[in-house]
Amino acid sequence: MTPPRPGLSETARVTDWTVYYDATADVPRATLLDALDRFEQPGLAVDLGSGTGRDTAELVRRGWRVIAIDGEPEAMVRLAARTDLDHSQVTTQLARFEDATWPDVDLVNSSFSLPFVSADDFGGVWSRIVDSLRPGGRFSGHLFGDRDTWASQGVTCFTRSEVDALLFGLSVERFDEVEEDSQDAGGTPKHWHLFHIVGRTTPQSSPSQ
Ligand SMILES: C[S@@+](CC[C@H](N)C(=O)[O-])C[C@H]1O[C@@H](n2cnc3c(N)ncnc32)[C@H](O)[C@@H]1O
Repeated sequence: MTPPRPGLSETARVTDWTVYYDATADVPRATLLDALDRFEQPGLAVDLGSGTGRDTAELVRRGWRVIAIDGEPEAMVRLAARTDLDHSQVTTQLARFEDATWPDVDLVNSSFSLPFVSADDFGGVWSRIVDSLRPGGRFSGHLFGDRDTWASQGVTCFTRSEVDALLFGLSVERFDEVEEDSQDAGGTPKHWHLFHIVGRTTPQSSPSQ
């Protein structure tokens, strides 16, 4: 993964994501698996920033219907070429998160994607995510922390208290704050500061007897 650097052309950004798709493992994210294990039955999910489909494929394997949204055409090409998922259970949307539309869902999964929404647009996208969760629905995914190397490179990063504020109103089921010196998908050394999150909206109360 390399951050979309301000000033690079759209073509350069495409190349960046293609490098990421080639370099990363095709296995579902732990935050998604954690969220899925908490549901009693499959439902309808949005995979926001689905990339080549590592999380979408796991959702479908577990009986979910998925709206896979990504702004990168190459992601959709690679998702469509997958032979390991039942495509009848997937609706794809080639769109920027800022412009994407989806119905109310049981799960919004967004793995390593929301930090690439600009700070100006982030609030609107986050409100859309939370507003689209049905009662008892969940968000699973990642945000980047303010000590991440990319915080100074145009990627949207948050302090711990800012993340707490974003999660206000959700029941937080998983919250791992992780910092490590490692490298990005292209092999460039960086400091990672990540929040791994699963949160749930309040379930509908059962009617009184
Ligand atoms: C780092 S990749 C993550 C892909 C996958 N979810 C994973 O965990 O490997 C980020 C993905 O988000 C997409 N993306 C980033 N910003 C976006 C935006 N503003 N609108 C739509 N897609 C975006 C990119 O095209 C890319 O496929």
